[in-house]
Amino acid sequence: MTRTNPRSLRRRRWWTLWGVMSVSAIGIAVQAVPPYVSGNPAAVPLPLNPDVALHYLVLTAHALPGGLALFIGPLQFMSKLRLRRPKLHRVIGRVYMISIVIASVAAVFAAAVTISGFSVQVAFSILVAAWLYTLAMAYRSIRRGEAQVHRIWMIRNYALTFAAVTLRVYLIAGLQLLPSVEFEAIYTTAVWASILGNVLVAEYFIVQCTRAPSARRQQRRDSPLVTTTS
Ligand code: HEM
Repeated sequence: MTRTNPRSLRRRRWWTLWGVMSVSAIGIAVQAVPPYVSGNPAAVPLPLNPDVALHYLVLTAHALPGGLALFIGPLQFMSKLRLRRPKLHRVIGRVYMISIVIASVAAVFAAAVTISGFSVQVAFSILVAAWLYTLAMAYRSIRRGEAQVHRIWMIRNYALTFAAVTLRVYLIAGLQLLPSVEFEAIYTTAVWASILGNVLVAEYFIVQCTRAPSARRQQRRDSPLVTTTS
């Protein structure tokens, strides 16, 4: 019986996740952004604040660059592209960074004027702070030439970008499965669940794909006589 080598198993798991992530990111970017670039505030699914004339424009300034970051983010995790076309990786990286900075500034305003409630405002404020912090750390580490650390921060950052996808998946599932629960309760739960769930999945992958293998190598170097079965 042939035994699958743990490295190729990890690679397969990583690429399966990458495929699912890319398809759903493109799907949400293509589905959620158009109402905000149509120029028609009546076409948007979220209730707009009637006291804020620019609410629609703020959401446009947020959703458009946010959608772009969501769309191009998965390309940055393709090691072949990174190794064969490093300049392209840098260009996409800069577009991704600028998109997130613009989307974040608009998200601060969107969170301030939302009529979705205090809990949603707190959740989005934490999300925007974490979005910018992880981006800054990713940038700082690559400027210092720490590619592995950069990769870890980018996994964290894209997991937060990807909250835009999981939020909508939980929202749709909640509305379908819990018709008796109010929209506001489902929306608030979906916002928090998308942030916490994505952070946990990202940390799991960081440990499994980057930290655990190097810890195992270190362990083998430190005590070569102890054999591991994993
Ligand atoms: C990860 C950091 C993000 C933060 C902090 C954030 C924040 C926000 C906030 C505060 C709102 C207003 C919600 C409300 O009024 O209840 C909003 C709405 C929206 N965001 Fe984001 N967002 C993020 C990422 C993204 C991304 C990556 C996209 C890409 C598609 C996106 C697309 C949208 C859209 C389309 C809306 C309008 C609401 C809807 O139609 O579902 N956001 N976001």
